[in-house]
Amino acid sequence: MKLFLLFTLLVSALYSAKVVEVAQEYQSSQKCKACHLEIVKDWEDSWHAKSHYDKDEYFSKSIEYVARKSRKSPNSVKVQCATCHNPRIAVTDTGLDYEIQVLMDLDGNSKVNEAIESSVINEGINCVVCHNIDKIHHDRDDSFRGMDRVSWTKSGLMVGPFDNTTSPYHKNEHRDFMDTKSDELCFVCHANDRSVNGIVFTNMQDEYKKQEKGCVDCHMGAQTLGVASTLRTEKGHTRKREVRKHSFPGAHTQEMWVNALTLELWQEQDEILIALKNPQPHNIPSGFGSRELIIDITYMKLDQVVESKSISLTRHYTRRKGKPTIPHLAEEMSEDISIPADGKKVLKVKKEADASSVEVKVYYRLVNEEVHSILDLKEAIWSKKFFVNSKSLNLK
Ligand code: HEC
Ligand code: HEC
Ligand code: HEC
Ligand code: HEC
Ligand code: HEC
Repeated sequence: MKLFLLFTLLVSALYSAKVVEVAQEYQSSQKCKACHLEIVKDWEDSWHAKSHYDKDEYFSKSIEYVARKSRKSPNSVKVQCATCHNPRIAVTDTGLDYEIQVLMDLDGNSKVNEAIESSVINEGINCVVCHNIDKIHHDRDDSFRGMDRVSWTKSGLMVGPFDNTTSPYHKNEHRDFMDTKSDELCFVCHANDRSVNGIVFTNMQDEYKKQEKGCVDCHMGAQTLGVASTLRTEKGHTRKREVRKHSFPGAHTQEMWVNALTLELWQEQDEILIALKNPQPHNIPSGFGSRELIIDITYMKLDQVVESKSISLTRHYTRRKGKPTIPHLAEEMSEDISIPADGKKVLKVKKEADASSVEVKVYYRLVNEEVHSILDLKEAIWSKKFFVNSKSLNLK
């Protein structure tokens, strides 16, 4: 662990993120509405638009908890998490000086507070995050993510999927990672998420089994004929383009869950086997720690319920002396229970003696009960059960 920290410190010195200021006229998505109305509206519904700590209860309570348990100021933790959640922030590090200022109540006019309160970042992962990435540095150590893995374009230069296109408002350039290689853009942040102790609790890039479809095909939808811009640049007409949606639906969206896993049931003597198959190119659950699959099993005789039970597939995280904690403070974690990408997991349960049939229902939950209660989450979405699949079997 010490060696790892030393290595991280050395590499950090080499690659500390370079801040490039975003000019006022490009900072906010509102500035793009005049010519990209549909895209801005889609994006406003996305969870990328909620990645700022003020807009996501689970995220903001995690920050407070990490700060309390690691005895840091909440603002230092905010800066740390901003690497991926808010990568246009103007400070990239806080340090001991800042912690002392906070203790003495002298941080009021500090650069750190100014950066955290700045309107530049209150939209979270907005247009000028993805479309101002100049280069993705694949040569950097795997632990460098978000702003530490990219360099930014000059303010006013938008990168996108098209070649040689023009706009009166901004400059444009084509990038492969906006076009044929867009998985690389997603992996800037959707990979190698780790605890403050260096425990990697998700790594979508490692588990990924590339199939025909890329991340954008499923999470931005298929390409359809439309317009990238509503400006009439073609002799009074708009230019027709193949475009996608910017709403990035994912684990918080019920429609995405239906049939995300397939289910098979069969009986072997007095045991019932439940196969959960995952056709997706990444594990499920994945993405963030403490997600959960719930398998509800109901035994019936004629039309009466004779017995029911529930199996939870989730991961648990512990700190010193085995105390339960949230993923970001983990020193250890339990085994990986996720259904592997393009793979399956088979569970066995005993047949209830006099049952004549069994019904199995699979659900997904964003936060397991342990972390839900540690953080005292209040909003309904965190305990909602998203329906995935169901099946019945007559028993012999
Ligand atoms: C999480 C990253 C991300 C964010 C945030 C984002 N975009 Fe995009 N955008 C993409 C990707 C990837 C594509 C290419 C999609 C494809 O394959 O067609 C794209 C394509 C576009 C295009 C070309 C049309 C199209 O659909 O291909 C425009 C214009 C655009 N984005 C504008 C915006 C605006 C305006 C915002 C802010 C409201 C925004 N984008 C936010 C990733 C992003
Ligand atoms: C005055 C109109 C106008 C405004 C305002 C505007 N754009 Fe554009 N943008 C365009 C036009 C026109 C195109 C080219 C569309 C085409 O060729 O189909 C374009 C293209 C793009 C592309 C695709 C570039 C490529 O090479 O693939 C991106 C990304 C983009 N705009 C982002 C933004 C963002 C982010 C904002 C807000 C900060 C913004 N635009 C504001 C007119 C505008
Ligand atoms: C700058 C970092 C960053 C980049 C680049 C990025 N994401 Fe994200 N993404 C995040 C963060 C952080 C969240 C969580 C926001 C929240 O829940 O508050 C998120 C959330 C999502 C979600 C919602 C998941 C859910 O559980 O509902 C999807 C889907 C998603 N991203 C897909 C993509 C795709 C596809 C790309 C590439 C085109 C991409 N992201 C690029 C950081 C990023
Ligand atoms: C073949 C379609 C497909 C592709 C390709 C795909 N996903 Fe997914 N993804 C899904 C489905 C289905 C789910 C489960 C329902 C949901 O959360 O949207 C999911 C879930 C997720 C989640 C939430 C995971 C969880 O357990 O909480 C994230 C984040 C995500 N995907 C990001 C990505 C990224 C990044 C890529 C590319 C590296 C990608 N996906 C590629 C279909 C796909
Ligand atoms: C390596 C980039 C990265 C860093 C650094 C990072 N996150 Fe995230 N975080 C993500 C991505 C990507 C997602 C979306 C994954 C998903 O939805 O499955 C996410 C999602 C989350 C979620 C779930 C939000 C939801 O709506 O379900 C929480 C909570 C969270 N992060 C907390 C934190 C905290 C606290 C920190 C700082 C201590 C932090 N993250 C630092 C990439 C990062």
